Amino acid sequence: MGSLRKSNELWNILTKGASRLLHTSRATKHENPLGLPRSGASAVPNIPRRGLPQKRDIPNVKKVVVVASGKGGVGKSTIAVNLAVGLALQEDASCRRPRVGLLDLDLFGPSIPKLMGLDNCNEPELTTSSALIPLKNHGILCMSMGFLLPQTKASSTSQPSRDDTAVVWRGLMVQKAIQQLLFDVDWLDNAGRTEIPGPELDVLVIDMPPGTGDVPLTVGQLVNVDGAIIVSTPQDVSLADVRKGIAMFRKVSMPIMGLVLNTSYFLCPSCDVRHYLFGSAESFHRAASDVGVPVMGELPLIPEVSKRGDKGVPFVLSSASTAQGKAEEEYNNTMLNVASGVWKSLSH
Ligand SMILES: Nc1ncnc2c1ncn2[C@@H]1O[C@H](COP(=O)(O)OP(=O)(O)OP(=O)(O)O)[C@@H](O)[C@H]1O
Ligand SMILES: [Mg+2]
Repeated sequence: MGSLRKSNELWNILTKGASRLLHTSRATKHENPLGLPRSGASAVPNIPRRGLPQKRDIPNVKKVVVVASGKGGVGKSTIAVNLAVGLALQEDASCRRPRVGLLDLDLFGPSIPKLMGLDNCNEPELTTSSALIPLKNHGILCMSMGFLLPQTKASSTSQPSRDDTAVVWRGLMVQKAIQQLLFDVDWLDNAGRTEIPGPELDVLVIDMPPGTGDVPLTVGQLVNVDGAIIVSTPQDVSLADVRKGIAMFRKVSMPIMGLVLNTSYFLCPSCDVRHYLFGSAESFHRAASDVGVPVMGELPLIPEVSKRGDKGVPFVLSSASTAQGKAEEEYNNTMLNVASGVWKSLSH
């Protein structure tokens, strides 16, 4: 392979390219974003007549699954990581395990580097054709904006880290970054390291930012997605957001595989009884059947899920090597069932 350029260059390309785009768009377009009629002005708003872009496949990726939620902090990234590991443990008819990748599209709060134990890695390298080479841990290929942020030193005592580096982008810059993360990553095995490319990815799991904003909409419009998993917690406010998320995905014709209810209950270790701390799961099941979407699983609240996430070890992996309580067993079984359901539906 030829000389590798640092992904700092990509950062520059992203920022310069996006600022060029911003310069060429006329500032006046933001003055009246809703196109409301003004006295003396034309009462007819100027509606762009261009059609939607054509949906494309992600290069060298066979299937794409997104993990999304209407509301923030419900456990998407944790579920995306455990789903990726769960999928990598599945086998096809010839006992071959799938190659799985994880793409973090949360530009403003990327969690995949930490959850996958890759937060102190160097920036990804580039192939000779300037595609990003994913980083790998726990058998999963990963790409995230978090790998591309410049490292900063918060105080004189602290080590350089990306934790305090904020992305302050909007509009076209966000769209350009998303497009590059979607289409300019080389997911082939051993990308950039050998002349002969390895096999492509069987499944790419995409961890979405929360809500129904620019990013999920852009993904829905640009990419052929095989299925979306929507994560929720039992609270009413989260359920209302689930309905909005489902409506948005349906609008962009993204197939919804099902819902996962996270932190549904706490299994008391001393009495072995399920405590529904955030409200009964019944209203969640009712809401799911109202919108015609299946519930794929209910995960318990386990403090250890959080602790191991902070250590960069996916829970379904780490608990395989340690003694398990009933709650851990229920979390793992549910997560592996979700992964097996996803794998089966992708294999049809
Ligand atoms: N089942 C669980 N039991 C206990 N803690 C959990 C569970 N699932 C997730 N958490 C914890 O909840 C917090 C939020 O999880 P996570 O970052 O996965 O949510 P998110 O939906 O991706 O958030 P954001 O919307 O900010 O991207 C984390 O600290 C995580 O470890
Ligand atoms: Mg997240």
